[in-house]
Amino acid sequence: MTIAERPWLNRLQPYQPGNRAPIADGSMASNESPLGASPDVAAAICGALAQSHRYPDPLAQELRSELASLHHVAADQILIGNGSDELIFLLASAYLAQGGHAVCAAPPYQIDRISTYAVNARLTQVPLRDWAHDLETMAAVDADIAYVVNPHNPTGTVCTPAGIREFVARSPARLVVIDEAYIDFTDDPNAQTAIPLVAGGGVAVLRTFSKIHGLAGLRVGYLVAERDIIATLQKIRPPFSVSSVAQAAALAALRDPAHPLAVREHTLRIRAEMVDLLEQAGYPVVPSQANFLLVQTLAETEFVSAVLRHGISVRPGSSLGLPGTVRISVPTERGLELLRGALRPDRELLQPTAAAASGLV
Ligand SMILES: Cc1ncc(COP(=O)(O)O)c(C=O)c1O
Repeated sequence: MTIAERPWLNRLQPYQPGNRAPIADGSMASNESPLGASPDVAAAICGALAQSHRYPDPLAQELRSELASLHHVAADQILIGNGSDELIFLLASAYLAQGGHAVCAAPPYQIDRISTYAVNARLTQVPLRDWAHDLETMAAVDADIAYVVNPHNPTGTVCTPAGIREFVARSPARLVVIDEAYIDFTDDPNAQTAIPLVAGGGVAVLRTFSKIHGLAGLRVGYLVAERDIIATLQKIRPPFSVSSVAQAAALAALRDPAHPLAVREHTLRIRAEMVDLLEQAGYPVVPSQANFLLVQTLAETEFVSAVLRHGISVRPGSSLGLPGTVRISVPTERGLELLRGALRPDRELLQPTAAAASGLV
């Protein structure tokens, strides 16, 4: 006898991760930290290994309470997850399963879509306007969860604080989930965290250690929300999903505030240089407040293969719902030099105009 999968899963394909680059400095497909983690993290991991025969603290109390003081909320308003992706799946199980309805931007952050379909819920995707969330149209949709990704992935665009406040006030959605995975990379004074809105009710904010803290491989994210939401998610979460090693690493990362500052400074500087480089090479770039740039190219596939010949891996826009673009993560200094080499006009990389002229687009 065979077991059949639930029919609603037919809508889904497995998540496609970014390709690894042949050399580390060429990795620009997954929005990882080019500077790695704080040097204190490795020592904390070694220390935690001595206790690896014990189960981790299921609630990560020490981490939770340090995050609570950082964000001026109570510890029971925080839930630590195996990356923020796990928390997104938990939100879907708790609030969307069996016929719920979510609203998000089109294209969305991929996990918002996958987690919604995984629990047989409906998803309304509202097309971006000028590459950013169309909060006005999204506010007309009555949903259980509204996802706002700020800055958005894959565009790097932000919503203004006034726009978010108005959205929260007007949206009929029972819960507005604001995903701030990239908030530490913003330098637009208009970009602000929504954590203070949690107190007003109906808002949950997602954060991750994967980006500015460089812990993507260890899987630590957290949700800041009202107590009843955290209590609900605790009932359904796998109790030991955040390992003791990951908890120790996240604590060490939090206790070294100089490292995220250095990552932020590097990211903003290299991001600006990349914008100049790409625009001078003829590629329009979407203004980004994140650790990546969305670049318009008339010949997406050719762009991806041409930079790969220089050791660089970027994310094809088609895999993110934006054909005709590529998403390029802010790399190391050496990575920027690789990109400079790949974009030099005498190289084989197709210029947008040349691509159009060759009939390849
Ligand atoms: C918008 C957004 N949210 C969440 C995540 C996932 O974070 P984590 O590694 O904590 O699961 C990502 C990762 O790329 C992201 O782009």
